[in-house]
Amino acid sequence: MQGGNGDGSYARNSEAPASAIALSKELLLNAINCMNLFRGEPSLRIADLGCGTGINTLSAIDFVVESIKKRYARESISVPEFEAFFSDLPLNDFNTLFRSLPHLCPRGIDEMQKQHSYYAAGVPGSFYERLFPRGKLHVAISLSALHWMSRIPEAVLDKSSPAWNQGRAWIDGARKEVVEAYAKQSEEDLKSFLRCRAEEMVPGGLLFILMAGRSDEHPQNQLGDPYSRAKHPFTQAMDQAWNDLVKENLIDEETRDAFNIPAYMRSKEEIERAFNQCEAFDIKSLKFSRVMEHSKEKQEKWMRDPVSYGKTKANLVRATLRPIIDAHLRSSHLSQEIFKRFEKRVAEDMKMLNKTCYYGIIVVSAIRK
Ligand SMILES: C[S@@+](CC[C@H](N)C(=O)[O-])C[C@H]1O[C@@H](n2cnc3c(N)ncnc32)[C@H](O)[C@@H]1O
Repeated sequence: MQGGNGDGSYARNSEAPASAIALSKELLLNAINCMNLFRGEPSLRIADLGCGTGINTLSAIDFVVESIKKRYARESISVPEFEAFFSDLPLNDFNTLFRSLPHLCPRGIDEMQKQHSYYAAGVPGSFYERLFPRGKLHVAISLSALHWMSRIPEAVLDKSSPAWNQGRAWIDGARKEVVEAYAKQSEEDLKSFLRCRAEEMVPGGLLFILMAGRSDEHPQNQLGDPYSRAKHPFTQAMDQAWNDLVKENLIDEETRDAFNIPAYMRSKEEIERAFNQCEAFDIKSLKFSRVMEHSKEKQEKWMRDPVSYGKTKANLVRATLRPIIDAHLRSSHLSQEIFKRFEKRVAEDMKMLNKTCYYGIIVVSAIRK
């Protein structure tokens, strides 16, 4: 994700994940209200895996800490102290995140003490590997992050393989072999994630995951209804933008074909299968929901002003994909050209503007056995 606080930063373009979190708060609260209480523990350790930066990150940890505190108070158990571990890949903008921690904002000392509801630390690394010592965590949450895969499967990049994903940036609607290669990688990734968390979490600990997901059993239908598929930032306009650069001789076909977006929307069945194979967790709840892409008011505004719609969508794509497109093209100038073409394509596609589009999410809560 793109760091900082600028127009194209993740912090300024995380509306969809924020809606997903808002929709899932009740499930998170239920999970907290049913979780084990750790009597006598002086401090509880909570990790946010794939924390990113911005308001979502801070409000999620605040919500978890405050909800656990209320539960302890309700049950007349002395409230422990809290340690919050913000974890993400090393390139995450931890500086922006730490500067926005409420108890580090400049205030009077009394105010600071009042706000200090947890001790914060950053943990750089991939959640597909071990991040914490054995038996360390009481709660692990991961919000809008686990649909990002650890890597692109080799076959997808291999010209001689039937799974070569020529001419597309992603897998929705791609050949069966391409989708199968992604599905296999995603399965291995989820198993690694669960294996690592099983080691890091204490018995009775709560694992709460919200990830992009699909309702359809068939992995080639990653995005649900036809409008949501066509309007998704990884599909039509993204492919057109890459092709525009090829046509304008700014990049060659090989460079275009070697770019693939490392994301996979799992189904509930795929998630359940990985948990069952891991055997370390009891699933308490597993739910698919749909989140509307934007509010009705915003959609009406954009129908009057398609250019600003194009800009908003391009900023969203910058926030999400800029670091990997920069790295792929080895030129931030060329990646800006991609975003400009993307913006133009989206703004020109008037017939899609009035279509409502949805993102699928899957929320799972589970207890470490
Ligand atoms: C869409 S953001 C979500 C951020 C935040 N949780 C929220 O809800 O707004 C996805 C985050 O997952 C992180 N991420 C992706 N793959 C990861 C991995 N293998 N290990 C750790 N973090 C990862 C990205 O760096 C990014 O910060």
